[in-house]
Amino acid sequence: MNSLAPHSKFSESATTFRTLVESRRAARQFTAETVPEAIIRDCLELATLAPSSCNLQPWSFQVVRDPACLQQLQSVCLGQSAAKAPLIIAVLARTDAWEQACADVLKLWPEPAVPRVIDQFYKRAAPYQYNQGWMGWRGFIKRQMVRLLGYKRPIMRTPNSLAQMQLWAVKSTALAAQNLMLAFQSHGYSTCPMEGFDVKRLHKVLPLSKGAIPIMLLAVGMPGERAIRNPRLRFPLGQNVTWH
Ligand SMILES: Cc1cc2nc3c(=O)[nH]c(=O)nc-3n(C[C@H](O)[C@H](O)[C@H](O)COP(=O)(O)O)c2cc1C
Repeated sequence: MNSLAPHSKFSESATTFRTLVESRRAARQFTAETVPEAIIRDCLELATLAPSSCNLQPWSFQVVRDPACLQQLQSVCLGQSAAKAPLIIAVLARTDAWEQACADVLKLWPEPAVPRVIDQFYKRAAPYQYNQGWMGWRGFIKRQMVRLLGYKRPIMRTPNSLAQMQLWAVKSTALAAQNLMLAFQSHGYSTCPMEGFDVKRLHKVLPLSKGAIPIMLLAVGMPGERAIRNPRLRFPLGQNVTWH
């Protein structure tokens, strides 16, 4: 790999983490060996330890192990080889779950009493921020307000439209997806994130709510002999990093 060599004085945990991250590759071929449910559950739990905007956890996962359903997903994934896996997890970004999530944060708060500031945030600030109204009409009004108020002081400018809500949900969900891949890697399984699929046909195979954006179908399994087809390529750090 064309990356920096790890610093010899880095801690053991940093070296362990680097080893894990470096070992993950997008695998394009899997054996038929199934993935034990306990491992799937562990990985999903680790996925949900990802940070999320306002801790609203706007993700959901559909775990597909049923052979008939997997067969259908292969075709949804345009017949690509990575999709012939014993396990596929649909990773969904939810734009429609924030309201329930606000209620759940207050319901499941892990202390006897919900601090007032938290209570107010999830009852007032968060709904104001995320409710874009029918067809986005609230978002439209908020965008005009933001323009005016933003002249005078720094202000949170997004998400104030239905499209920005999609970006909002996708950001946090992508972090969970990366956790999910690394978690499977730590158990010795390989993964391939796939966005090469027909989203319309996916809706016919899996029951997806209207506000759920399938950000990727994650193929998971034991790597086959031809799992890795190409050497790893990354651009040099200097190309994409600016230091200030
Ligand atoms: C959002 C996303 C979508 C991807 N879609 C596909 C896909 O449909 N099929 C595939 O074989 N690989 C897919 N990949 C894997 C990338 O091609 C792969 O991560 C990249 O080439 C770098 O290789 P590496 O992951 O082995 O380091 C996708 C990766 C990401 C992050």
